[in-house]
Amino acid sequence: MSGAPVPMCDPAAEYGALADEIDAAVRRVLASGRYILGPEGAALEAEIAAFVGAPHAVGVASGTDALHLALRAADIGAGDEVIVPAFTFVATAEAVTYTGARPVFADIDLATFCLDPRSVERCLTARTRAIVAVHLFGQTAPLAELAAIARERRLVLVEDCAQALGADDSGRRAGAWGDFGCFSFYPTKNLAAAGDAGMVTAQSARHAERLRMLRHHGSRQTYLHERLGWNSRLDELQAAILRVKLRHLEAFNARRAALAQRYSALLAGTPLVLPTAHGRGRHVWHQYTVRHRRRDALRAALGEAGIASMIYYPLPLYRQPLYAAEHAGLRLEAAEEAAATVLGLPIYPQLSDADQRRVCEVLAACA
Ligand SMILES: Cc1ncc(COP(=O)(O)O)c(C=O)c1O
Repeated sequence: MSGAPVPMCDPAAEYGALADEIDAAVRRVLASGRYILGPEGAALEAEIAAFVGAPHAVGVASGTDALHLALRAADIGAGDEVIVPAFTFVATAEAVTYTGARPVFADIDLATFCLDPRSVERCLTARTRAIVAVHLFGQTAPLAELAAIARERRLVLVEDCAQALGADDSGRRAGAWGDFGCFSFYPTKNLAAAGDAGMVTAQSARHAERLRMLRHHGSRQTYLHERLGWNSRLDELQAAILRVKLRHLEAFNARRAALAQRYSALLAGTPLVLPTAHGRGRHVWHQYTVRHRRRDALRAALGEAGIASMIYYPLPLYRQPLYAAEHAGLRLEAAEEAAATVLGLPIYPQLSDADQRRVCEVLAACA
């Protein structure tokens, strides 16, 4: 089967669709001479806070920094434990490790790839200080249950919303449930910068103020440094580009949802295990992730046809060399099964119906 290559996502096509607006925004910032902590960043913070439905939003340099600085703003550090899913991108756990706290890995629900609250309960100890709920692949973790656990045990609830801007659970958006919502605008995300960028939403003014200090060398007033901070600011060029794209996010997310629905229709009846929506609210389909015992063979067949696919993620985090020694012997059933069987298929707003059909034809022929 031949045809043009199909990538996993296409940032250049997204730029092409919005080039006039993005070019004007970039020129505006360049001409202003104001590149760090200026009006574009402040406006983006206000727009994201309003979109998410959270009282505060603070721009930072990446999604990883968003997680790290949120945990720091909550005073989490050495001697503390933070529960994170075993099946997620490494940054979720890295952020915990940066603070000196210990990540404790909980299992996921295989149907949704998100945290299983019963596994979270089994991980609780006297040292537990926080839970990081990752909204993996574009739909929320079970927020009502996780928020109830956090409330009862007086834990900090951090939402890792890197893959879920615009998703909601029972009418409340991702990032508006926890003490903190941590967003990534990495170039492949649903809202994508032309580089690294991130944002933290916060419920409390005290936390927001701390985040503003932590991202800027522990400083509120020029050359007065009240605590150890970092250099982690979202720059004006990225903010201006993100503000353009935010105006199109609902249309982009709607196209992703239409593509997901079409994948499910075209692949119905194949032996692939198709992803499911939890039904409590909107899924924004950052990824469309199928499962299959022979996923490596499927990946090879797609590759031969010029079609990209990705294994998000090939190892539960406790098996990564970074964490393996400290977590030797840990085996979580659903995380193991997911890591052994998942395959992410191309999904992005500019993916054409014809290319998507080709992906499905190759899969149907060899699944
Ligand atoms: C679930 C998750 N958490 C955190 C991150 C880290 O974000 P960033 O790459 O912007 O640092 C990412 C994405 O890269 C992610 O997918």
